[in-house]
Amino acid sequence: MAKFTCFFFLHSLLILIIIQHVKTSESLPLSTTSRWIVDEKGRRVKLACVNWVSHLEPMVAEGLSKRPMDDIAKQTVSMGFNCVRLTWPLFFITDDSLGSLTVRRSFQRLGLLEPIAGIQANNPSVIDATLIEAFQAVVSSLGKNNVMVILDNHISKPGWCCGYSDGDGFFGDWNFNPNLWILGLTRMATLFNGVANVVAMSLRNELRGPKQNTNDWYRYMQKGAEAVHAANPNVLVVLSGLNYDRDLSFIRTRPPALSFGQKLVFELHWYGFSDGDAWVTNNPNSMCGKVIDYMMKTSGFLVDAGYPLLVSEFGIDIRGNNVNDNRYLDCFLGVVAELDLDWALWTLVGSYYLRDGTVGFNEYYGIMDWNWIDIRNSSFNKRLSALQSPFRGPGLTEMELHKVIFHPSTGLCILRKPSINLLGLGPCTDSEPWNYSPQKTLELKGANLCLQADAFGTMAELGITCGGSNSKWEMISDSMMHLSLKLENGTLVCLDVDSNGNIIMNGCKCLNRDSRCDPESQWFKLVDSTRSGNLGKSFVDFDSTIDLGIPMEPLFECKTSL
Ligand SMILES: *[C@@H]1O[C@H](CO)[C@@H](O)[C@H](O)[C@H]1NC(C)=O
Ligand SMILES: *[C@@H]1O[C@H](CO)[C@@H](O)[C@H](O)[C@H]1NC(C)=O
Repeated sequence: MAKFTCFFFLHSLLILIIIQHVKTSESLPLSTTSRWIVDEKGRRVKLACVNWVSHLEPMVAEGLSKRPMDDIAKQTVSMGFNCVRLTWPLFFITDDSLGSLTVRRSFQRLGLLEPIAGIQANNPSVIDATLIEAFQAVVSSLGKNNVMVILDNHISKPGWCCGYSDGDGFFGDWNFNPNLWILGLTRMATLFNGVANVVAMSLRNELRGPKQNTNDWYRYMQKGAEAVHAANPNVLVVLSGLNYDRDLSFIRTRPPALSFGQKLVFELHWYGFSDGDAWVTNNPNSMCGKVIDYMMKTSGFLVDAGYPLLVSEFGIDIRGNNVNDNRYLDCFLGVVAELDLDWALWTLVGSYYLRDGTVGFNEYYGIMDWNWIDIRNSSFNKRLSALQSPFRGPGLTEMELHKVIFHPSTGLCILRKPSINLLGLGPCTDSEPWNYSPQKTLELKGANLCLQADAFGTMAELGITCGGSNSKWEMISDSMMHLSLKLENGTLVCLDVDSNGNIIMNGCKCLNRDSRCDPESQWFKLVDSTRSGNLGKSFVDFDSTIDLGIPMEPLFECKTSL
């Protein structure tokens, strides 16, 4: 018994220390330095967020009828997210007759009785709270679980968003009065002033519609930004672009003029359907090259211009059967890894109380299943996980700049398998440092080993004679995502991953204009990193945690109690 107690004590002590590591890794509030979002100590904080919808007709965060909010928050953390983009409709803070409705009344008014019973059972403390109080309770529950929150003004009139001519898309539309909007932003910023986990406010989702123009963009976005900053100087101010948050190209020649610095972030939305069904009807390599080019011109350039860029919406049908979505995602994940962007997945929501007139609408883009308990597709979560930790940034330099070889379609990186010179796929955080030399060799730094391949169908290997044609790698195709080399006899071959996860050589796929082929197994990105796999691992490895110098006194205490 005594021995058991001792172990328990030791265990919980270590867990405590580990939790403290995690906690102290973000000291709020956040600010920006060049393109990075950083904490108070100047250390990069990568926002790996998920969108949680609270802007539809009921104006209640979705899912509360299915599960206690604290469980949803804990689940969010366990899936690797550190942040939630929580959406809200303007009118619930500017129209007192809406904001003061109780949760129960809000559902009754819509004739939705099932969610009332569900919320009564799962979240009884908010059923007779006002909509604003319920919203605050969700933020607070996220805070208790160390989840950061971006408050996103998604729309004015509660409901599903966004149509081109829905009157809710741009300043001056009938549901988008700029003065009312500023009032609402001010009220929200004030309401959450002093709530530490509210780290950012995005001023307006997906500006769009016939009225959109850059002059009004500057006029009102600058005003909105100043209003938020005046009411709550702790939050990052997130600005969206025109054309459904796809176009920030105008910032290149005219940065916003603001009275404050180090708090400004831009946001971008990017889906497969942003380009209709063009991913299906076109060759995936040429499509990927084209959309990356567009993205860099319209928003990606901001990173080089010294602004953080948050991809605040992206996502796919997580069931995995939408070819358009699948092709887009492989290309997209490559870019997000390469630029090491901050992001927010659409969406956490497994099902909506009511969406577009459908009760209990099943959200196939949702990471949770319809019941808000199961994860919809764990293989999707695995693919995201590589992007949930940063590759580089201020305060994260554990070793000199190197490359990791990222494979978007698995979300894994090419690693040397332990103790043998074979290659396989594994978590990017475990990657040893690769160097891509001017001679086009891919070497494991400090190991005198380089990536080699001799023939079709054979496994790629690590060899010691580097520099010959069997180790001269080029990134090719319109997507620039194929790692290829020319065999001695002049045949072009590409690095590929077979269904068993072996790293093999194959004929290069889809280099012509064919739209019916899928090259994703051959898509790779050489991603800049300054992280050390070994240091990253120590947090989950109890033995090495002890080696890192945990005070020994508690162990003695434990012994004397025996
Ligand atoms: C999960 O996604 C994979 C890959 O996209 C797909 O093959 C699989 O059928 C999906 N599983 C479920 C349960 O949706
Ligand atoms: C080159 O060599 C490979 C064997 O590695 C073979 O499959 C291919 O047909 C050869 N190509 C030519 C043009 O000889």
